[in-house]
Amino acid sequence: MKNAKLAGIGYYVPENIVTNDDLSKIMNTSDEWIVERTGIKERRYANVEEDKNYVMGAKAARKAMKMAGTNPEEIDLIVYATLSADYVFPGSGVLLQKELGCKHIGAIDVRAQCSGFVYGLSIAEQYIKTGMYKNVLLVGSEIHSIGLDYTDNGRHIAIIFGDGAGAAVLQPSEEKGKGVLSTHLHSEGEHAEQLAVIDPGFHKKERFHPDMIKPGGGFYPVMNGQFVFKNAVTRFPEVIQEALDKNGYAVSDLDLLIPHQANLRISQFVQKKMGLPDEKIHNTIMKYGNTTAASIPIGLCEAYEAGKVKDGDLVCLAAFGSGFTWASALIRW
Ligand code: UT7
Repeated sequence: MKNAKLAGIGYYVPENIVTNDDLSKIMNTSDEWIVERTGIKERRYANVEEDKNYVMGAKAARKAMKMAGTNPEEIDLIVYATLSADYVFPGSGVLLQKELGCKHIGAIDVRAQCSGFVYGLSIAEQYIKTGMYKNVLLVGSEIHSIGLDYTDNGRHIAIIFGDGAGAAVLQPSEEKGKGVLSTHLHSEGEHAEQLAVIDPGFHKKERFHPDMIKPGGGFYPVMNGQFVFKNAVTRFPEVIQEALDKNGYAVSDLDLLIPHQANLRISQFVQKKMGLPDEKIHNTIMKYGNTTAASIPIGLCEAYEAGKVKDGDLVCLAAFGSGFTWASALIRW
């Protein structure tokens, strides 16, 4: 059985930079509050008329395919992770298949929110490992900016999120011991409503009611921030350690950790708890905010471009978020 390697990676963020000061003009917040609580200085907002979720996904995917030396015709499967799909249904995977001009291949949408990319990686690598496919395209893409509540009710959430996309092409690794070594997936549905958008879903007889779009209505994300924070700082180290243990490594063997970017304070807490030096963790939240399923591939691409991911490095991807879901992947690059 051959491991799956990330043969190509790519990302795309919209040009439009929205600073904390820009936000403070449209809502009741300040640069000082946002930086102190989250570390975020700016984020990107898409012009959705042009940069739809699947269009951003396609832009990231083209870069990943180029690096992997492949093209849409050769892609065997699409795995698409997002919580902000273009339509309620069908999923964005099929829109990407059309946009890229892939063959009539399978397109799987993954709904695991912040853990979406790692969940997707876990799915994608199985098809490579079993030998069923040679090229699996994995995408994480999010449009948050048009779904946030910018009133006082949602301001603790609105300041966090940003738009963007990341992608990877998985191929069989020809070198033994390289590629994805293991993936670890978890969920705890009893906390589903602690971080969620619940309307308009299919859980009420009256699927849509105008009250849903009032501040505090179910149309907007709700988050019990402190509860999510507490769980995140427990689950991140747990699932990173799980990946290391599974492969017989210690934290000191790790060359780089790319954590999902939820809050810089969470990343710093995890870094400290695990005893990782600054050069072994890569954060992007300052520039892009929390881009959910896109944050890990964006961080991975940036770290790679900065020369922080080298041949033979041991890289860990880890995520925690809505669901709750949490996950990790250990990769020998
Ligand atoms: O990726 C998905 C996973 N998500 C996360 O991991 C997020 C985890 N949680 C967090 O990062 C933090 O809980 C937040 C950054 C979201 C919020 O920080 P917090 O320290 O938990 O603040 P809070 O919501 O408890 O609010 C503290 C105060 C409140 O005022 P009072 O009641 O103390 O007077 C809020 O009304 O700050 C106020 N506040 C704000 N003030 C200015 C809340 N949001 C804002 C804001 N600007 N944007």
